Amino acid sequence: MDQALTIADLKDRARRRVPKMFFEYADSGAWTEGTYRANEDDFHKVKLRQRVLVDMTNRSLESEMIGEKVSMPVALAPTGFTGMQHADGEMLAAQAAEEFGVPFTLSTMSICSIEDVRSVTSKPFWFQLYVMQDKEFVHNLIDRAKAAGCSALVLTLDLQILGQRHKDLRNGLSAPPRFTPKHLWQMATRPFWCLDMLGTKRRTFGNIVGHAKGVKDLSSLSSWTSEQFDPQLSWKDIEWIRDRWGGKLILKGILDEEDARMSLDSGADAIIVSNHGGRQLDGAASSISMLPRIVDAVGDRMEVHLDGGIRSGQDVLKALCYGAKGTHIGRPFLYGLGAGGKAGVRRALEIIRKELDVTMALCGERDVKNLSRKNLHTDL
Ligand SMILES: Cc1cc2nc3c(=O)[nH]c(=O)nc-3n(C[C@H](O)[C@H](O)[C@H](O)COP(=O)(O)O)c2cc1C
Repeated sequence: MDQALTIADLKDRARRRVPKMFFEYADSGAWTEGTYRANEDDFHKVKLRQRVLVDMTNRSLESEMIGEKVSMPVALAPTGFTGMQHADGEMLAAQAAEEFGVPFTLSTMSICSIEDVRSVTSKPFWFQLYVMQDKEFVHNLIDRAKAAGCSALVLTLDLQILGQRHKDLRNGLSAPPRFTPKHLWQMATRPFWCLDMLGTKRRTFGNIVGHAKGVKDLSSLSSWTSEQFDPQLSWKDIEWIRDRWGGKLILKGILDEEDARMSLDSGADAIIVSNHGGRQLDGAASSISMLPRIVDAVGDRMEVHLDGGIRSGQDVLKALCYGAKGTHIGRPFLYGLGAGGKAGVRRALEIIRKELDVTMALCGERDVKNLSRKNLHTDL
């Protein structure tokens, strides 16, 4: 893993190790993938202010996200199907995050269940909730996250219906994988992935099967998931979700100043500026281009985080300079996981930490909490 110097190196390795349908599930956006690309591209437009002859000793990346201490302000974002990038993927990524001192967020659509992840971690992790039409299932899911000691609920707002990703449709993606000749070939050419996968029993949606009414086998699962996302979810629902949960609440998927202002009255502790990694509304603005306006809209009345397009510690720094209190990474840790399991996730975090630290120093700053727009040249 030490040979991987960038997140792009980890991506190359993941491409070689993970069957095509699952690798492309991560490396894809909706429709033309324009927003997926813009998330990354727009970071490159932001220029850093180089400063010299500043004491660069005793640097610190430590910070807080929703009141929790973090070794650097970078959390692992919730990603579905993570246990298909690598066997037991969510458990391994959660352990890597815990050891590194950053938050891990488990997706509703994970392969390993809340209880699986709880069984291999000792610090609280965060749980991401999709609101389904089956409210009894949602109530139980919230209660299970509470029982597992999760310290934050991340409520995803930008997936009331599914965006279309052409690669997934062309690949015939499913969990567990189908066994058509095409899929068998994709797996046969990835023997290490197969060996790991044979060693685990976790190959389907662990939070759903056996917990949702009528979902016992695979065919019932696929029809359940495609019908269940709640298209009527509204601002009013946040109230009962917040009351039932009773803990820290983060709203994920805010990309508009007006929505950001509305979230101020929701009782949430933080918002994540996000377009779901370009996987939902293709044509939407990149996350980093919306961040300054959203930070200005909410002022210091609420913590603002960002995800989407972060591929280096420099990107993290740019988001922090624009006023994000924290950032979240999806694909960077998924590529690490696919490339080398837990060691790969650790490597992804190490790469980002090193880049963040050196960039901060060369910008003349010693404490990540002091970064601000003064460290940048341009406004987006
Ligand atoms: C493969 C994959 C699966 C995802 N699944 C979920 C999910 O289950 N729930 C959710 O809220 N967001 C999900 N997301 C979105 C991420 O939480 C996050 O917003 C996005 O990955 C950030 O962009 P990045 O991958 O460029 O870092 C997923 C993203 C990817 C790449």
